[in-house]
Amino acid sequence: MILNLLGLAAAVFFAYACFTLFLKAVRSPSWLAKILGGLLAGAATLLFAGLFVVGLFGMWQLEAPRSGRSVSDVKVEPTPELIARGQVVAQSCVGCHSFDGSPTLNGGQTNHAPVVWGLSTGVVYAPNLTPGGELRRWSDGEIIRAVREGLDDRGAPLLHPAGQYRGLSDEDAAALVAYLRSQPELRHDQPRRSLNPVALAAAALGWLRTGEQAPIQ
Ligand code: HEC
Repeated sequence: MILNLLGLAAAVFFAYACFTLFLKAVRSPSWLAKILGGLLAGAATLLFAGLFVVGLFGMWQLEAPRSGRSVSDVKVEPTPELIARGQVVAQSCVGCHSFDGSPTLNGGQTNHAPVVWGLSTGVVYAPNLTPGGELRRWSDGEIIRAVREGLDDRGAPLLHPAGQYRGLSDEDAAALVAYLRSQPELRHDQPRRSLNPVALAAAALGWLRTGEQAPIQ
């Protein structure tokens, strides 16, 4: 994130520097400097300005909280039946969110950042969903929204495959919450999510989709 912001700042700086050179070139008394310098500096200005716009749009796509996306204030009452049902629904999360393939979803060990154009887009691990992780601080409604709509507690997009879960019934979603909250408080340090400039460009150009944008499957 910090590196991406620095990259955006660098793009603005270079666009400005190239634009100054462009003005110098076109005001120069020499025709050669006017045409050659003007073309080169003009092209470089457009390139850096373009990189800035693409980067900014990609950052918005990947990081900005979506305003106006409501979250339900449902309170899940855990019963043994609901927890048992949740364990069944949670089977489909094991492949990504489990460290060792067990039903305890204490965080996966695979980097899920997609590879786009043959390049890595960064680091994204499927987080620890037991009460030892972040979800301890999330409301039941926020967890359900993350699963079905792919938004985190602030409403920012997640790279979780929400398209697969969009059609999950309210009851199955509540069962998942009951199951997750019933898990032991396991801790497991995982790398923080970090998406690089390739991810920004891919998101801006529609090659990388967040869970929020994923089509229903
Ligand atoms: C294909 C892999 C995959 C599957 C299957 C999957 N997830 Fe995820 N999930 C992820 C990844 C990766 C993230 C982290 C996304 C990010 O940080 O952008 C995530 C994030 C989340 C989050 C946000 C947690 C946090 O601390 O930020 C929740 C909640 C979640 N998933 C619940 C589930 C549940 C419940 C299931 C099963 C019903 C499930 N996921 C299935 C990959 C998956």
